[in-house]
Amino acid sequence: MRIDVVTIFPEYLEPLNVSLVGKARARGQLLVEVHNLRDWTHDRHNTVDDTPYGGGPGMVMKPDPWGEALDRVEARGRADERTATADPVLVVPAPSGRPFTQALAVELSEKPWLVFAPARYEGIDRRVIDEYAGRWEVHEVSIGDYVLAGGEAAVLVITEAVARLLPGVLGNAESHRDDSFAPGAMADLLEGPVYTKPPEWRGRGIPEVLLSGHHGRIARWRRDEAFRRTAAHRPDLIERCDPAALDKHDRAVLAELGWRPGPDGRFGRPGSDVEE
Ligand SMILES: C[S@@+](CC[C@H](N)C(=O)[O-])C[C@H]1O[C@@H](n2cnc3c(N)ncnc32)[C@H](O)[C@@H]1O
Repeated sequence: MRIDVVTIFPEYLEPLNVSLVGKARARGQLLVEVHNLRDWTHDRHNTVDDTPYGGGPGMVMKPDPWGEALDRVEARGRADERTATADPVLVVPAPSGRPFTQALAVELSEKPWLVFAPARYEGIDRRVIDEYAGRWEVHEVSIGDYVLAGGEAAVLVITEAVARLLPGVLGNAESHRDDSFAPGAMADLLEGPVYTKPPEWRGRGIPEVLLSGHHGRIARWRRDEAFRRTAAHRPDLIERCDPAALDKHDRAVLAELGWRPGPDGRFGRPGSDVEE
């Protein structure tokens, strides 16, 4: 995969040299190029922002440097034999974007070429996003319901979530299949607790079943714990769980926690007035 990031703070992206993403780059599984937006300004002060039309506080990023930068990034990518025939996918971090989820991480991990446009100030002049949406696939993506000072932290988050899904990047290719939110059996579930050696620490043991060597019972225990944790931390996920994906045992665990199925089979929170 090729990733281009255009930013006014290239140094903010330095963590992309360490750990899993850094190793993926060193192995050639991931190519990352970080570009300084100010390289495409033409005034003495390298200005990238201006006052907003309509007035109001804050500044808006000017379209000209962004347009020149993205055109140049496209030309560079097309000159790279790995992405010569690919289409760039533009990812614009924005609190007003579509929520970033594991499903979107999977979708983006299947693209050969991502271009990130993290903004500062009040964001980028809208015409830039509209212009590139006419040429490329564009995703405006939010990493959560809060407002950061800039999109670079969102680029780090999205890149790490995407890179660990690339073939060969994780030591054990199976490991992300059991993660919280992993498409499939874990799509609407959080992973339960995990333990390692020693078997006793400060008087605390580990659940007996994990020592049983019985794969079926261990898998069942893990799924039960996933339901317990999800019900406690993210009841909204239980509410949207597809009833067809729940087996008898799943239903029993939810019933034990006070959840009841409504007329459509979906479970409602304890205390809510779902009709049985
Ligand atoms: C100060 S914010 C602008 C917020 C904008 N005025 C709004 O209310 O939607 C500056 C930039 O930080 C990034 N950003 C802030 N919060 C974000 C979030 N939750 N997810 C993704 N990017 C975010 C975006 O690139 C955004 O354009």
